[in-house]
Amino acid sequence: MALVDVNEGCEAEFMTLARTLAALILRKGYGRAVTVRDEAVPSRFYTVRHWNTAAAAEQCHSDAQSQALTARLYQIARVTQVVNGVRHLDHSRLLIEDRRARAEADRRTGFDRRTTDTGRTEGDRRAHRDRRLGPRRLRDRPGEVDLVSAARRAREHAEASFSHFKVGAALEAADGTVISGCNIENATYGLTICAERVAVFKAISEGHRAFTRIAIVADTDAPTPPCGACRQILWEFGGNLEIILASLTEEKGRHQLQDLLPLPFDARLL
Ligand code: THU
Repeated sequence: MALVDVNEGCEAEFMTLARTLAALILRKGYGRAVTVRDEAVPSRFYTVRHWNTAAAAEQCHSDAQSQALTARLYQIARVTQVVNGVRHLDHSRLLIEDRRARAEADRRTGFDRRTTDTGRTEGDRRAHRDRRLGPRRLRDRPGEVDLVSAARRAREHAEASFSHFKVGAALEAADGTVISGCNIENATYGLTICAERVAVFKAISEGHRAFTRIAIVADTDAPTPPCGACRQILWEFGGNLEIILASLTEEKGRHQLQDLLPLPFDARLL
């Protein structure tokens, strides 16, 4: 799926292009394409491609006609890939497979306190610091979400009138949902909230309870790691998340939260 922001005045041309491309995708047996206009933003569209097979997607990408249409599209619009790949449709199955989602519907019961050994019986088990605390990452499954792009998009909504330092975050829930956030400042300064906490609180309020990764984006050369307050909230609600730091153009680094927050305080200590 992609978000398409069409240049002003080019909406009609975009619709024609989208229809032509959809007809080509259908005619050549690659799959089908759907384009939906955002009801609130007239220049924004969402395009979803349902490929018949992975090979059909490849063929379409190397199809000269499709390439010509896509090249024109890129001249009149900004296209952001949000989800790329094959997704599990059966979310309930994903949740059942996810041990932590099953065990900890309510994270107030504390960070992952698995007491019985449910790991592999054969050797090479992860132990101590390497032990995998969170749910299986979606990275290991087909259909990875482009979290960094989602964080870049979220950053565009930042309210940073005082620091002029815009930050975007995108948090991935265990069922694959992406919840984004941006920093929001106000005249008191002190009531500012960081992008990461906005994402976490939005996610919690929408019923998500297990998370796998978070991407954080700022427009700087040096990576922008989460502040101390955000590390605490991320730890309590997300456990040992993978943290992906990126700028507007490139990834800057990956960390595990336990490395950024050694000796954490959490519900286990209450
Ligand atoms: N900020 C974030 O949103 N996330 C971070 O990881 C670091 C800092 C925001 C807070 C404030 O609005 C601005 O960046 C400058 O500190």
